[in-house]
Amino acid sequence: SEGRTTGRVSPMPGVDAKPTVGAVVVAAGRGERFGTPKASLELGGTPLWRIARDLMDSLGIESVIVGDVPGGVPGGPRRRDSVANGLAALGDVEFVLVHDVARPLADTHLVKRVIERLTDRDIDAVIPVVPVPDTVKRIDGDRVVETVDRADLVLVQTPQGFRRTALVRAHAADPDLDATDDAGLVELAGGRVGTVEGDPDNFKITWPDDLTRAQLVWRRRNDD
Ligand code: C5P
Repeated sequence: SEGRTTGRVSPMPGVDAKPTVGAVVVAAGRGERFGTPKASLELGGTPLWRIARDLMDSLGIESVIVGDVPGGVPGGPRRRDSVANGLAALGDVEFVLVHDVARPLADTHLVKRVIERLTDRDIDAVIPVVPVPDTVKRIDGDRVVETVDRADLVLVQTPQGFRRTALVRAHAADPDLDATDDAGLVELAGGRVGTVEGDPDNFKITWPDDLTRAQLVWRRRNDD
């Protein structure tokens, strides 16, 4: 089936074995802000779900795509339910990457940075982050309440990496909790979340204009 591939598996687990890594690509949901489901959008003639799968394939990472795409597994009502469905369909890997289909500009360098940091023994999860470029203010309706110091704020991207056991534990800790990213659930469950440098080009396609911007980056990369 097209949405699920089998990556490299270490021949002798535990003996000089590379850690096994799998990926859950979330591509479900209705894409309410965008207007159409994002998985079927295309960049350079390739649907976003295929771009995500190809990225993981290129690194020998088994991937499961969650959403209404060829070979995909069904999504759930909340993002975390979609991730749980993906986890259940994934093999018994040591590390799991969770990646948004709506970030088609993630590259192999970024994925490798996340995996590299994950192998730190004292870390449960790893997120890629970038600085906040704009001034940030807290508002109440149309009034400013305060200016927030952006120095210790970051914007958070995917792929996020997890010890599979830590993510499963975080999901089990409180079935009612939801978070806008998966590391949020690990934080709430008391897990240790590390950061690596993200990539400003790895923005999320949220609004139609973002697709135009992504096309520019895509073209620039493929012309090199
Ligand atoms: O809506 P938002 O842009 O935050 O969604 C982020 C990602 O989560 C998208 O890739 C979307 O496909 C996925 N998602 C999902 N299942 C849901 C909600 C969102 O797979 N129920």
